[in-house]
Amino acid sequence: MARPDLCTTEEIRQLVNHFYDRIRDDAVLGPVFNEHINDWPVHLEIMVRFWSSILLGSGQYSGTPMPKHVALPDLDASMFHRWLAIFHSTTAELPNRDMANQADELARRIARSLWLGYQMNREPNRMPQELGHE
Ligand code: HEM
Repeated sequence: MARPDLCTTEEIRQLVNHFYDRIRDDAVLGPVFNEHINDWPVHLEIMVRFWSSILLGSGQYSGTPMPKHVALPDLDASMFHRWLAIFHSTTAELPNRDMANQADELARRIARSLWLGYQMNREPNRMPQELGHE
């Protein structure tokens, strides 16, 4: 599903920068990110490599997002919905609609899997709840 011709790295960089500008301004998510990220330029660079790997298949990202998110205290479904809403409002402004649609689809899938993994790691004896629609 990765497509090397989908977009440029510069387009990815702009998406990442605009998205995290909004995240940092958000009343709920801003504090969570600011508390855990000491070096924003480093985080943004990691995120460019992450999106370049999953959108273009560039193989530039080799991290493990799940344990990083499982380590964050007190996440809930509404925060993942909020993350997705902010992501969607950012991709909505992209002139490259192919890129926007692909990024939205991947974000939805990964958010769902992070939320399911988060619950299974934190509360292994409870049935995890789907992200569902909001
Ligand atoms: C409620 C939703 C979310 C919150 C609060 C959140 C928060 C964070 C924070 C604080 C970090 C930095 C962790 C660290 O460096 O120790 C991080 C890293 C990251 N997040 Fe999220 N995140 C959320 C959802 C997502 C989603 C939906 C995706 C993917 C579509 C994603 C992808 C990543 C990636 C790839 C990293 C970098 C991991 C690494 O260092 O290799 N996050 N996130």
